[in-house]
Amino acid sequence: MPARPTRRHILSFISLAALIYLVLYSRDVSNSHQHVPLRDVTDNRIARSTRIVAVGDLHGDIGNAQKVLEMARVVDSDGRWSGDVDVFVQTGDIIDRGDDTIKLFDWMEDLRSQAQSAGGQMLSHLGNHEWMNAIGDWRYVHQSEIKTFGDVSARQAMLSTGRIGRAWAANYTTTSRLPLHPSLGAPNDDFPPPAGSAAGLPVPLSHAAYSFVHGGLALGYPQLSPFPSAINDIGLSLLRKLQRRVQPPPHPPHAYPGLPSSATSEEHALYESDGPLWYRGWALNDEKEVCRDVDLVLDKTGTRRMIMGHTPNFQKIVSRCNGKIIIIDTGISHAYGGALSALNVEYTLKPVQSSSPSSSEKKWREREVVKAVYPSHFVTLVDEERDVFGDI
Ligand SMILES: *[C@@H]1O[C@H](CO)[C@@H](O)[C@H](O)[C@H]1NC(C)=O
Repeated sequence: MPARPTRRHILSFISLAALIYLVLYSRDVSNSHQHVPLRDVTDNRIARSTRIVAVGDLHGDIGNAQKVLEMARVVDSDGRWSGDVDVFVQTGDIIDRGDDTIKLFDWMEDLRSQAQSAGGQMLSHLGNHEWMNAIGDWRYVHQSEIKTFGDVSARQAMLSTGRIGRAWAANYTTTSRLPLHPSLGAPNDDFPPPAGSAAGLPVPLSHAAYSFVHGGLALGYPQLSPFPSAINDIGLSLLRKLQRRVQPPPHPPHAYPGLPSSATSEEHALYESDGPLWYRGWALNDEKEVCRDVDLVLDKTGTRRMIMGHTPNFQKIVSRCNGKIIIIDTGISHAYGGALSALNVEYTLKPVQSSSPSSSEKKWREREVVKAVYPSHFVTLVDEERDVFGDI
């Protein structure tokens, strides 16, 4: 017959339980506040993670732009780089339909230098509306916005040889390729790597990158490779021609000026409706067709997903084909009154022990979580984990 527990037994049991609880709890606390890199037991590799935020069309509304960047923790409440993000991407169409053109482009350059000082990075893109303005197609320019520059010629000067035009030429591209972690390559490293360079990463790490563009990278677009330099070289060459010509009187009321007569056929193709600035096929075409074609573009551009703006859905960020296509234009500007949104990507590479110790290849567990973030909720679009191998 078991002895009845005495008071003393009960007391010592309670203190033992409390002790165990304290030990476990303190371990838990130290784990949840872990800022030191996780160390693998077998070698000295450390876990690496990176956070990327991408935002779509802003169209002349700095108030909503500030709300979105603050919500996504790109900036603090004063609009300064938070230091809480590794890469901030904007996919173009900052200009038109609103009055805050100067404020927005100046803010972007302030953020870029703050990011740089904090070890962060920004990728900025020219949308079809930036290109329209460079061409002299001012159909979506408000008269009140022209007044913020002074007059038409002051605006032309600022967008060509002035500080906004110079920022476009120096710090904006038409498209970009972003490896998901710095150890997988630098932003806008070409895929495939140029001949003679060190061998690239093995699949799937060679494609652990996203592309960003305003409209879309159509399967039939002839300049997908090498990516992104083929497109960006054409873009920069066309932008220079536009910025260096005598600025044509804007349309309307004047006639549409078109591209400079010196524009090459590649430069014309860049700006056509199937080119990267205007293409809407990934947003609008039939599911079966896009999910078949998207893999071909991803293979060619060395990427895993394509992120684009341009074709708005006023309710939400649209994910198609399991997140291989993500469309982030939600009509953020008050010109549309759509949803405030940002795309948030968290990517982690954790060292794991290889199953065959003799193998020279290092094994990692990769986790990729992509969320659409809104003011009061978020939606997980992608949450994938896989084992990858590579000496990185
Ligand atoms: C481009 O960005 C760099 C880094 O912030 C900055 O130093 C430079 O002035 C910018 N260029 C232009 C023309 O705005």
